[in-house]
Amino acid sequence: MNYWRGIIHRYREFLPVSESTPVVTLCEGNTPLIHAENLAKGIGFKGEIFLKYEGLNPTGSFKDRGMTLAISKAVESGKKAVICASTGNTSASAAAYAAKAKLKAYVLLPKGAVALGKLSQAVIYGAKVIAVQGNFDDALYIVRKIGELLPVEIVNSVNPYRIEGQKTAAFEICDALGEAPDYHFIPVGNAGNITAYWKGYKEYYQKGKIKKLPKMMGWQAEGSAPIVKGYVIKNPQTIATAIRIGNPYSWQQALQAASESKGKIDAVSDDEILNAYKLVASKEGIFCEPASAASIAGLIKLTREGYFRGGEVVVCTLTGNGLKDPNTAISVCEEPINVPPDMEKVLEVIKL
Ligand code: F0G
Repeated sequence: MNYWRGIIHRYREFLPVSESTPVVTLCEGNTPLIHAENLAKGIGFKGEIFLKYEGLNPTGSFKDRGMTLAISKAVESGKKAVICASTGNTSASAAAYAAKAKLKAYVLLPKGAVALGKLSQAVIYGAKVIAVQGNFDDALYIVRKIGELLPVEIVNSVNPYRIEGQKTAAFEICDALGEAPDYHFIPVGNAGNITAYWKGYKEYYQKGKIKKLPKMMGWQAEGSAPIVKGYVIKNPQTIATAIRIGNPYSWQQALQAASESKGKIDAVSDDEILNAYKLVASKEGIFCEPASAASIAGLIKLTREGYFRGGEVVVCTLTGNGLKDPNTAISVCEEPINVPPDMEKVLEVIKL
């Protein structure tokens, strides 16, 4: 048998698992790396852009890479329940993998600030959904306290197995390109993913699988940019609800990834995010969620500023699937044109 069996099976030698670890998988990973030549041309980028489309994971985001490992290890250690705080994607993933593993899942969401698709995932997979009248940071604080009190596994990226699983995306990129890219652009929220990618690249480098390391370029939304500003944001705001986080857990690791790699952590506005979100869909046929587009927005911004010399190979991670949040897409695009059931009227609209 030679079918894709998920990231633990594929990258076992790099992961903290043994023969006796029960592997809980939905066959995550192996996501496409898409050559985005239309986008490059459209934004005037004189190198090559590749998009790592993580929205094609089983629950529609990169979280599944970390969750397969976190849940497998929870089962291995005899846990019966898992808990997380989430802006939506972690809860969707935790709920799905917990269902597969026959564990209970408790998810704490910031009330009214989670895209509907993500909420629908958590409920249909059977998690107990708790809407906290506060933001993500409030919810994560409570989850960490509960983790100290009850025999429940926290599956936020405070759980090191999440980072271990997520680093496999960097492996896949290097395996596909035959080398690391020059730059890696990625959205930053709780800062686990940038931490994971940097770890993955460094491990591949140490093993001699790649001969250079990329510069890590992390992007926060302007209204939720604690790392860029250097202080905790009490009331973070952004249309990109997935990264609406004011006190990221992996703050220091994100700074370290940027400084060790000679990259940077910077911010983009909601307008820049929405522009990138529409552009990648209309130029490349890829529907990602607004938070994901922060990576593209960052690339556009630096290209405009003349940051690049030309000839660079850049990878942007598109962290989640746009279908999770159709309301945002509909609100930023033209409305459908209504016509009676009459071909002449349709032809008037088509005007070819
Ligand atoms: N993009 C998407 C679509 C996300 O859902 C997240 C985080 C990020 C980017 C940022 O990744 O936190 O590792 O820096 N979502 C978390 C959640 C917070 O609860 O789903 P990060």
